[in-house]
Amino acid sequence: MMAEKGGYKHFMHKEIWEQPRAIADTLRGRMLLTEGDVHFDTWNLSQEQVKSFTKVTILACGTSWHSGVAGKHMIESLARLPVEVELASEFRYRDPIVEKSHLVIAISQSGETADTLGAFKEAKRLGAHTLAVCNVIGSAMTRESDLHILTNAGPEIGVASTKAFTTQLVTLYLLAVKLGRMRGTLSVEGAQEHLTHLTQVPKMIEEVLKCEPQVKRVAREFMNAQDFLFLGRGPMHPVALEGALKLKEISYIHAEGYAGGEMKHGPIALIDEKMPVVVIAPKQPHVAYEKIIGNIEEVRARGGKVIAILDEDDTQADTLADHVIRIPAACALLAPVVATIPLQLLAYHVAEMRGNDVDQPRNLAKSVTVE
Ligand code: G6P
Repeated sequence: MMAEKGGYKHFMHKEIWEQPRAIADTLRGRMLLTEGDVHFDTWNLSQEQVKSFTKVTILACGTSWHSGVAGKHMIESLARLPVEVELASEFRYRDPIVEKSHLVIAISQSGETADTLGAFKEAKRLGAHTLAVCNVIGSAMTRESDLHILTNAGPEIGVASTKAFTTQLVTLYLLAVKLGRMRGTLSVEGAQEHLTHLTQVPKMIEEVLKCEPQVKRVAREFMNAQDFLFLGRGPMHPVALEGALKLKEISYIHAEGYAGGEMKHGPIALIDEKMPVVVIAPKQPHVAYEKIIGNIEEVRARGGKVIAILDEDDTQADTLADHVIRIPAACALLAPVVATIPLQLLAYHVAEMRGNDVDQPRNLAKSVTVE
């Protein structure tokens, strides 16, 4: 069993460390740097079709829904198409507006989640063009869709999703570049710049994984906390949601992910000296850096403990936080991939230190095939 886990104690830990390789597999053969374009083997949409789309609707559940929220930033920014991200479990039950000019994207690691599959079939029935972003080849969603793109993460065994999430983010980024090129909202040079950023991601993940000893110290200090708050703005908001979900799933500590600007509308009431607050604050456009620093100050003023995820060269915020975890600076749309890694490690080590069954957390299933 240990051999299957490649010497790691848990599949989740192995899968966290596999991410540089998994992301390289997601990118392999798809980046046409010279042309400033993206190649997907399965692609079957004409330029005319892509230009005729008026809206994108993303359907997903759980961690995959968080990728969808990050994907919205990518597609809106590069392809200038409005994107709505829907919880698949809600979609079918509320008379959704679906038109032939809509591209409906299902995101699912397994490709079998009943809620996502049901919503996806409904969107197809209503006439939308359907695209599935899945990890499992031959899964129901890949068969039901007009077009599917595989994330190529390799099998994920740990119930809490790690490499499936980051490879979904990278796949959505490739998709955003592809749509941007076909719609003419992204120039060849613009695409080349984005693709160059993408080539650097596996190396960046290798770099950021080196923060593990420090994350372990943070985990030891806060392993008995009752609640955690995760804050992020812009593209870091889904990272905050995912960090909180990961911690809840395997450590059973209550955690909430919030958009930084919403802290004053509720969660601020929870903050006292027992409350650890993880603030994801790389210095990027759309992350509203100065505002998130304001959030750190507000937490500190109430005695809360701040764990800040900051760019490696950020010297402004590090004096404010109780703990600083540094990440290599990535472009704004890719920073979620990099910033997620320390949060996965934090959840893993807290759960492991609490003696929990990390790979099989109570009450959860890897794939939920009932509604
Ligand atoms: C379950 C898993 C989650 C996953 C969600 C959606 O709840 O425990 O890790 O994010 O299903 O799964 P999918 O396979 O559709 O991505």
